[in-house]
Amino acid sequence: MKKIRLAIVGATGLVGRTVLKVLEEKNLPISEYVLFASSKSAGKKVKFMGTDYIVQELKEDSFDSGFDFAIFSAGGSTSKKYAPIAASKGCIVVDNSSAFRMEPDVPLVVPEVNPEEIQNNHGIIANPNCSTIQAVVVLKPLDDKYRIKRIVYSTYQAVSGAGRYGVEDLENGIKNYVIDNAYELQKFDYPIFSNCLPHIDVFLDNGYTKEEEKMINETRKILKRPELKITATTVRVPVFNSHSESINVEFEQPFKMEDLVKTLSDFPGLIVQDNIVSNAIKHDSAKTLENKITEPEQSKLDKPVYPLAINASGHDEVFVGRIRRDYSVESGVNLWIVADNIRKGAASNAIQIVEKIIEQQNNLA
Ligand code: A2P
Repeated sequence: MKKIRLAIVGATGLVGRTVLKVLEEKNLPISEYVLFASSKSAGKKVKFMGTDYIVQELKEDSFDSGFDFAIFSAGGSTSKKYAPIAASKGCIVVDNSSAFRMEPDVPLVVPEVNPEEIQNNHGIIANPNCSTIQAVVVLKPLDDKYRIKRIVYSTYQAVSGAGRYGVEDLENGIKNYVIDNAYELQKFDYPIFSNCLPHIDVFLDNGYTKEEEKMINETRKILKRPELKITATTVRVPVFNSHSESINVEFEQPFKMEDLVKTLSDFPGLIVQDNIVSNAIKHDSAKTLENKITEPEQSKLDKPVYPLAINASGHDEVFVGRIRRDYSVESGVNLWIVADNIRKGAASNAIQIVEKIIEQQNNLA
C-alpha cells in the first residue's frame, strides 16, 4: 500500500491542535506526519499519537521532501504564500483560511454536501468558514427537496472562533466580574463578557461585515446557487465554544413538516434534536440522542430538547432543532443550528476532506 505523508501547518494553534486531536481519534492510513509552525515554535515538542513530535519551522523548501496532503491552519497570509508552493510540489492542500475560498478554480468543500467538487482541485481545496459549514449541512437536503428561495442568517458565535485572544478576553471578563480584576481587551473592541458584539471580522463599505459576506458568498458557491437571495447578521456572544445559528428559510415548493424533519434526520452528519415537550408538534427523530451523543440532561429531566453549544462541543455532527413553520410566508421554516466551530467548522471538516480523497483514490486503485 502507498505510504501517505501529511503535513500539519499551524500545528501549535487553536485549530491545529484540534487537527492533531481529531487525527488521534481517527484511524487514517497515514504513515507519516510532520508538524509545522512559525520560527517561534521551531524545536518545540508536541505530544501526538503517543510520541513527542518536534515542530518544524515552515520554509519555502518544506515541501521538497514530498507530501501527499497538507492541512493549513496558520492564517491567510501563510496560506497565500506557502499553499501554492506545496501544491506545485504535488501536495494536495486543504486550507482552513479564507485566502482561496472564492477562487473559481478552488473547490469549497463540505464532504456531506458537495464531495464531487473534490475532483476539480488543482492542488488546493478550501475549507469553508465555520458558520457556513454548519449552515449548509442543514440547507443542502432542503434545497435539493424544496428549492430554497431566500435565507436569513442570524448567528451567535463563540469566542473560540476569534482565536486565543478572543478566548482570553472572555476569561478575563469573567475574572473581572468575580474578583474585580482589571484587564485590557486583546481581541475585541468592547467587553465580550455579559455582552453581544454585532461585529465579526472587518466592516465593508456596504455596512456588512466580512463574516456576513463570507456566509452569503460561500453558501451560494457550495449550493451552486449563485443568485440565491441571502442576508446575514453575525454576532459574537459570550460562549466559549460552538456556534449557534438561527436560520429562516423560504422555499419555492410546499412542504409537510414530518417530511422536512425526516429529510433532515436522514442526512449524514446531521442530528435532529427537537423535542419541545409541549402539546404542539412533537417530532422526536429516531436519530436524536443516538449512540455517541450522550443523552442531554434536558431529556432526563423531562425538559425540552434542542441543540445547545455545551452539548455540541467535542462532536463532529451538526445539530438542528426548534424546527417550526414560518407562518408569515407561503412556505418557510425557522431552524436553530449548533455545531462545534473548531471541530466541524474547521479541523474535522478538513480531515474529512483528506479522508474522502484517500477513499476515492482507494476506489480507483
Ligand atoms: P506559532 O505558534 O509558531 O506562532 P492561532 O490561530 O491559534 O493563533 O494559531 C496560528 C498558527 O499558525 C500557529 O500554529 C502559528 O505558529 C502558525 N503560524 C503563524 N504564522 C506562521 C508562519 N509564518 N509560518 C508558519 N506557521 C505560522
